[in-house]
Amino acid sequence: MGRVFSGVQPTGNIHIGNYLGALKQFVELQDENQCVYCIVDLHSITLPQEPKELKQHILDVAALYIAVGLDPKKSIVFIQSEVSGHAELAWVLMCNAYTGELSRMTQFKQKSKDKESAPAGLFTYPILMAADILLYDTDIVPVGNDQKQHIELTRDIAIRINNTYGDTFTIPEGRFLKEGARIMSLDDPVSKMSKSTPNADSRISLLDSPGKIKKSIMRATTDSEGSIRFDTENKPGISNLLTIYSVFSGKPITDLEKQYEGLGYGTLKKDLVDVVWNNLEPIQQRFNEIRTSRELQNILRDGAERAETIAEKTMKRVKERFGLGL
Ligand code: TYM
Repeated sequence: MGRVFSGVQPTGNIHIGNYLGALKQFVELQDENQCVYCIVDLHSITLPQEPKELKQHILDVAALYIAVGLDPKKSIVFIQSEVSGHAELAWVLMCNAYTGELSRMTQFKQKSKDKESAPAGLFTYPILMAADILLYDTDIVPVGNDQKQHIELTRDIAIRINNTYGDTFTIPEGRFLKEGARIMSLDDPVSKMSKSTPNADSRISLLDSPGKIKKSIMRATTDSEGSIRFDTENKPGISNLLTIYSVFSGKPITDLEKQYEGLGYGTLKKDLVDVVWNNLEPIQQRFNEIRTSRELQNILRDGAERAETIAEKTMKRVKERFGLGL
């Protein structure tokens, strides 16, 4: 049994990219592993958040975790800021990481590119992520492709500290799906689907209505060739729709290509609307049942206690290795 850790930022608009790249894996892993899943609220404040909205978004992600199938009896589900070890360990790691390493992070470059000056937290964000992972002696980190560089940095810092201070951390591995690890934007299929792009039709959020899902899929950018085949280079739009279809339906892309041979893009899109809604409807039903329930509060409280027990042991070991404290 391995230890699995992952997290999602409570920044609203959790979309099918988050689901197909990450959340779906979270559920698949929970039967065979000890899984720890976090709502990373400390990460979300690297950019300004409206406090009342943030509170709601935290509970939305928690309810979505349960709605997609996480079982709190099997998995630990909790809010990052409820366990103080995350911020504490981040400091220790920060003292063992280099500014050069952080400057190379592509997410930082993207998020800070139009800003005259960026918050220091945006720069050190990957270190907090490393702390999340290392705090739980994590073996496996299920994430989308966009987190690859952050996992590499986590491994580099952990190996560096183990070499200098003796065996302190488990070295984690990222887990990326072959399909679903990078779902692209519907209106601009060469960019990844994102929570924050202004055009809501660029993504399908897990809580979108059937009407909105239909509108976004029917408007999705394709090409003028007219044939339905998977070719990310020349047909990024159709390839993205085929990927979404394949991961939601479980049908291999090659089967879908055969199924839609000679048919038009409109037919593919209409069927995809049904496939997506058939998957999202039960998730939304469960979400509505749990979102305002006392059960959700109890799951998060219990999760934080269980997470704290593991985190405390790691922090004790880290302090001993570094010679910190009494
Ligand atoms: P976040 O909140 O941006 O995204 C949550 C998860 O969704 C994946 N993802 C995607 N997968 C496929 N296609 C997409 N278009 C797409 N967009 C997002 C992300 O890869 C991620 O797995 N830094 C992380 C949160 C985090 C974390 C951690 C993750 C903080 N600490 C420790 C793992 C372990 C983030 O911002 O994810």
